[in-house]
Amino acid sequence: NFRGALFDLDGVLVDTAKYHYLAWKQLAEQWGFEFTESDNERLKGVSRMRSLDIVLEIGGIRLTEDEKLRKADEKNEQYLQYIRQMDESELLPGAREYLLRLRESGVKIALGSASKNATFILEKVGIAELFDAVVDGTKVSKAKPDPEVFEAGCRELGLLPGECVVFEDAEAGVQAAIAAGMYVVGIGSPAILGRANRVIGGLYELVG
Ligand code: BG6
Ligand code: MG
Repeated sequence: NFRGALFDLDGVLVDTAKYHYLAWKQLAEQWGFEFTESDNERLKGVSRMRSLDIVLEIGGIRLTEDEKLRKADEKNEQYLQYIRQMDESELLPGAREYLLRLRESGVKIALGSASKNATFILEKVGIAELFDAVVDGTKVSKAKPDPEVFEAGCRELGLLPGECVVFEDAEAGVQAAIAAGMYVVGIGSPAILGRANRVIGGLYELVG
């Protein structure tokens, strides 16, 4: 039995992938190419700047470092316009119930996300107070599949890796958890998350 649970945000607790997609798609349209939902799969779990590089590669676009920073800001402004409208209804099924259940059984809870908007999103959907620690894109320098984000979360909870379970929907996130020496539950398709210790369709399966 685990003493700590570490959660990825996008795709595990909230469905923000659609907003990231819409924001990137608008940039791609400006540049005159189509950015598809299947292209968007490549951005899951990936940092903002790395995501931009992938989008540029898909469109065959080259930018200077300064232009890249400006475009990344533009994308984030667009993304925030969607995020500002979010409320509790955008929590994924079972998310709040499962977090509450863990708290009742004394399990410590941390967020382990690549997003720099994580705290804002937790507040918008009303679950910020359920976390004992929040490690996000503003605190770590090495992106998943590097284990840094989960190692830091586990440390902030005052626990050892073997005492923690990670919930992840991205392949890079599953790899990060394995590299951190933690038990990992994949959320999504076994075809993509096959390296996880267990794969489920969503947190709703655990509160059933
Ligand atoms: C991850 C998402 O959680 O955060 C990625 O899966 C996203 O798609 C990344 O690019 C960075 O998010 P943000 O909010 O800092 O741009
Ligand atoms: Mg995710």
